[in-house]
Amino acid sequence: MYNTEVIKIDDGLIKEHSINKIAKTTAIEKAAQLLLNNEVVAFPTETVYGLGANALEKQAVSKIFEAKGRPTDNPLIAHISDKNQLPVIIEGDVPEIAKKLINKFWPGPLTLIFNKSLRMPQVTTAGLNTVAVRMPSHPVALALISKVNLPLAAPSANSSGFPSPTRAQHVYNDLNGKIPLIVDGGICNIGVESTVIEIEGNTVNILRPGGITRKMISEVIGDSYQVKLENSAEVNRPKSPGMKYKHYAPNTPLWILKNENNLEELLSKYNINNKETLLILSSETLNEIDKGFVKTNIKNMGTINNLEYIAKNLFNLLREADQKDYELVLIEEVPNTDIGEAVMNRLKKAAIKTI
Ligand code: TXA
Ligand code: MG
Repeated sequence: MYNTEVIKIDDGLIKEHSINKIAKTTAIEKAAQLLLNNEVVAFPTETVYGLGANALEKQAVSKIFEAKGRPTDNPLIAHISDKNQLPVIIEGDVPEIAKKLINKFWPGPLTLIFNKSLRMPQVTTAGLNTVAVRMPSHPVALALISKVNLPLAAPSANSSGFPSPTRAQHVYNDLNGKIPLIVDGGICNIGVESTVIEIEGNTVNILRPGGITRKMISEVIGDSYQVKLENSAEVNRPKSPGMKYKHYAPNTPLWILKNENNLEELLSKYNINNKETLLILSSETLNEIDKGFVKTNIKNMGTINNLEYIAKNLFNLLREADQKDYELVLIEEVPNTDIGEAVMNRLKKAAIKTI
């Protein structure tokens, strides 16, 4: 058991993006010391909070799996703060197309799969010969990684299976007592995890849709390459081992609501038009419902014209649902375009039913 400490980084420093000043704060000094001693530390990234440890130390990385209760066959992403750190963790040349994507989207929410170097221990990659790498853009993450000058293995800092944490409080709720330190850097801006890609010949396979959209990738790679979204149902052996586990789910059963159906009819049909149900709806649908008829609790997820906002708040909404005694949460589907693709990917994994 740890006495979990939470240390906040000044909002002003984050807004200023002062990596050098952030690196000198006591929070980062302490975090770096812990990491150098093979301990784990939770820290903010622009996507979600990560639970970091020295990616090159087996003993340190094992503590991540232990704290999260993560299956050991689910590999971790190595986070770097400088491209110069790549040769330590990967083997072989970086393909031209990967270089293009890195130049455009790093630092940022894009994770690329490479062949791993011999220095990268098996625990980090869960026995795979490949390693996932990304350079986050959050100044606190960059300050911390450059201070320790080591690649940090970091999955999302939630208990395995639960919604990812987008605030320090979410990390605390899941991991209090299990980790020594949470560096609080406020609310994560993107709110869904990075896009994980693998390059195979002239194809960019999206193994997990995320903060960098399919459209953004297509624009950079040009016409001689294609982008494919891996569908876990079609792949016998999951390419990204994380695809096979239940993920992102609140404790309360979650259903997805298809928006071509009549909401009032469905509430009657399933006998769920009552206070034990929470409906999470877009502002557009909210404007259309019959307020005299609907007896459920309702939350507004925002307008579908701003999918970035919906993505940013998604995991917080799912976590809030667990804080009341609802028996059921219904969430409206969003357009499967742009970052909506990542939102729907998470919802489909979290939900037990679609109506
Ligand atoms: O935005 C993010 O990516 C966050 C922040 C903290 O950086 N991290 C994150 O890590 O979401 P995690 O562990 O929750 O998800 C990593 C995903 C998993 O689906 C895992 O299976 C996949 O990346 N992955 C990791 N290494 C891989 C590899 N070598 N080959 C294929 N997939 C891999
Ligand atoms: Mg995760």
